[in-house]
Amino acid sequence: MEVLSVASEVYPLIKTGGLADVAGALPAALGPHGVTMRTLVPGYPAVMAKLNGGRVVREIGDLFGVHAKLIAGRVEGLDVIVIEAPALYDRPGNPYVSPDGWDWPDNWKRFAALGWTAAELGQGMVEGYNPHVIHAHDWQAGLAPAYIKFSSSSHVKTVMTVHNMAFKGFFGSEIFNQLRLPPHAFGMGGVEFYGGISYLKSGMECADYVTTVSPNYADEIRTPAFGMGLEGLLNGRADTVVGILNGIDVEAWDPATDKALVQNFTANTIHLRRANKLAVIEKFGLDGEDGPLFCVVSRLTDQKGMDLLLQAADGLVDLGGRLAVLGSGEAYLEDGFRHLWARHPGKVGIITGYNEALSHLMQGGSDAILIPSRFEPCGLTQLYGLRYGCVPVVSRIGGLADTVIDANPAAIAAEVATGVVFDAGTADALYEAIRKTVRLYRDEKLWKKIQRRGMKSDVSWEASAARYADLYATITGLKANDDPDN
Ligand code: ADP
Ligand code: GLC
Repeated sequence: MEVLSVASEVYPLIKTGGLADVAGALPAALGPHGVTMRTLVPGYPAVMAKLNGGRVVREIGDLFGVHAKLIAGRVEGLDVIVIEAPALYDRPGNPYVSPDGWDWPDNWKRFAALGWTAAELGQGMVEGYNPHVIHAHDWQAGLAPAYIKFSSSSHVKTVMTVHNMAFKGFFGSEIFNQLRLPPHAFGMGGVEFYGGISYLKSGMECADYVTTVSPNYADEIRTPAFGMGLEGLLNGRADTVVGILNGIDVEAWDPATDKALVQNFTANTIHLRRANKLAVIEKFGLDGEDGPLFCVVSRLTDQKGMDLLLQAADGLVDLGGRLAVLGSGEAYLEDGFRHLWARHPGKVGIITGYNEALSHLMQGGSDAILIPSRFEPCGLTQLYGLRYGCVPVVSRIGGLADTVIDANPAAIAAEVATGVVFDAGTADALYEAIRKTVRLYRDEKLWKKIQRRGMKSDVSWEASAARYADLYATITGLKANDDPDN
């Protein structure tokens, strides 16, 4: 089974969030299930720098008005096809915005080019390469299923995975004429969305199957509160929508071998974490190790409930906790955390920006990770927390609710608790969860049990990779080879 994964981020080539982790880990996880996954990714500067060679497999004279080359290569264990089109992708900043934070005005074209190229690859654009399935991730790849649906000659099957319903890739209808789709594609059964064009909706409408990244989020988005205008579409095709829980790369994230840690440890040597805690305390300029150390590793946005944390954080400090925040995002939230730090120097530390190694150290050294999201399709940082003995304190929402078991009396008695789970959306509930966490932390024996249980829980891709492989088999009618030795 050959699958072309289409993603605008893939770790370790380019990452701004969890999409990259997922797109980066799935190919290796699918291998044992008889699925060969290649990834189509735009040639951003970071990608080109890592590509280092590769083979030009096709030149495209007119990719939405620019010249492009498709380069196939193997980088860091991933089989990739990179779209080298400097006029579209060779820019500073992150993949979506300029260095001063504005969306690139031609994003519609940059990601139409991604979807169009994927669809052409699905229809034999490169000789000898005929994927059975195009697997598109998020709005940036959302046009791929539309180009396939509206082409007359295509047999390739399509899967659209929604990682975040909030980002729709919405553009004005005036771009339609330049998208190279037939006129009837501008309609309910195609790319049209409230008079404009949504790339995410296009993918969700046109793909053979829609998946999202946790079973709970798959249910939530069928309701107006979380569907963000697409609940009707989802309900209309409910039998081809499924939630498949994300896993994590358990090799890249292994506390026993992680080079970003000051001290490696396992579920049986949890006491060794202390050296990492001291390192985090030092990095964030905190003033002592007594009391629980809470951390945040997150985009600083409303989705992530960071405004709620700002309201609850004085209480966290009063309870004897400390807080280390690594993140970047909305200016008012970054400012809010700076003010919080100014009120509580030594108790609160903030580092803005993106730092992969530090995010590992924080998981390996903090006592608990706070994730008060308002909505969360899956969430990966709670999974990293579980694996690193950093107890997740999460809102009861989306994938967070699917992956963390609250330490209530029944769960403690049944020996299944792995974290603290609270109702989403209010600072009061978050504060109560922090209070509960401090209480649990003070019961050293119980705390260690919760940590150890989390570390032993299965957060790998194993089960979910099998579900994707089954899905590809279902839509193609082909059998994915479940046993590589057969
Ligand atoms: P989302 O994709 O919505 O941002 P996820 O929890 O799925 O949320 O994934 C976020 C990913 O980005 C995780 O791998 C997390 O560790 C990482 N991350 C977020 N912010 C930072 C940061 N400032 N520095 C390093 N890693 C970060
Ligand atoms: C999105 C979601 C996050 C999810 C990630 C990977 O960015 O916000 O919840 O874990 O995609 O699927």
